[in-house]
Amino acid sequence: MAPVSSYLKAFVAASAVGIAIRQTGTFVPRPGNFPKTGDDTIAGGIFCISLGDLGTYLARAGNPGGSTSEAPRGAGQATSGSGPYPAQAFLDPALPKHTIFAPKVPPPNNVSLPLITWGNGGCGTDPNSFKNFLIEVASHGYVIAAVGRQGGIGQSQTTVQNHRDGVDWGYSGKASKYGNVNTTAITTMGQSCGGLEAMSTAYHDERVKRIVMLNIAIFQDERRYLLQEINVPVAYFIGGKTDMGYPNAEKDYKLLNAGLPVYKANLDTGHGGTYSATNGGKFGKAVVNYLQWQWRGDAKAKAILLDANSAGSLVSDKWTVEHKNWT
Ligand SMILES: *[C@@H]1O[C@H](CO)[C@@H](O)[C@H](O)[C@H]1NC(C)=O
Ligand SMILES: *[C@@H]1O[C@H](CO)[C@@H](O)[C@H](O)[C@H]1NC(C)=O
Repeated sequence: MAPVSSYLKAFVAASAVGIAIRQTGTFVPRPGNFPKTGDDTIAGGIFCISLGDLGTYLARAGNPGGSTSEAPRGAGQATSGSGPYPAQAFLDPALPKHTIFAPKVPPPNNVSLPLITWGNGGCGTDPNSFKNFLIEVASHGYVIAAVGRQGGIGQSQTTVQNHRDGVDWGYSGKASKYGNVNTTAITTMGQSCGGLEAMSTAYHDERVKRIVMLNIAIFQDERRYLLQEINVPVAYFIGGKTDMGYPNAEKDYKLLNAGLPVYKANLDTGHGGTYSATNGGKFGKAVVNYLQWQWRGDAKAKAILLDANSAGSLVSDKWTVEHKNWT
């Protein structure tokens, strides 16, 4: 066998177990420049923006101010989620820079639990402000490795490697104490900077099968060519025209590879979504139904997303929905 093809084979095998050679420098976007992994020296990785550049790009995007009729009023109640498996947060010594959100009691072994990795807004180091939402998702039978923990993790922001640690943890089998975790069913998800971190983590990592982007998409036009390397379905849940994610999600939705299933829904909340509402509010409901459709083939959940006339559809909840290439 030719040395080159055996090298490639080894690289593919290495990628499949998450030990690809990481990009360690600062990523400089340039057409045709596709680094091996989504790591970068800035939080959120190659799809993200440095804090220093954020102001410039926000000014350029020119979001209008104004109504956010669906933003939560006041703090929601803490619950164990509305799903069949009451859930909670756990601290796990096997993953010291994360918080795990999972059913309190491992569900029966015949219930396969998809794994989700989570990145916080601001690529922050404590998922506490998202806990109503994350507990809600977990209560439907998901194990979530959220980057960060209460009190922080001794760094100012989280990185792609922090996020990837959650995928590696699932793959290592250490998540099995929370139930029958299915590591062939991995979603990376996050809000704002954490969403870009989720997309950077999924980039060139074949273990990741779905990407969920909350209130965010790529800021810089010069980085959008990287979307060519995204080959798994992407769902965007955005907060309407006042959300900084709005103009960029409109662009990325059109630029993702031809034929790729993409979902995009907007609710008039602004950038903050409804995560703090009881059970994560309408964002909680939308994301749970998306996941139940994707991972459990739940026909009712699929109709809630795709059929405006179905009972409890996202459209009836006042989401504006656009989607393509789903069957
Ligand atoms: C798991 O097994 C229990 C008991 O046999 C059954 O009631 C339940 O429907 C099964 N759940 C799944 C997801 O197969
Ligand atoms: C794990 O997830 C994959 C992808 O959705 C699915 O095909 C497979 O049936 C799941 N395994 C189990 C045991 O449910």
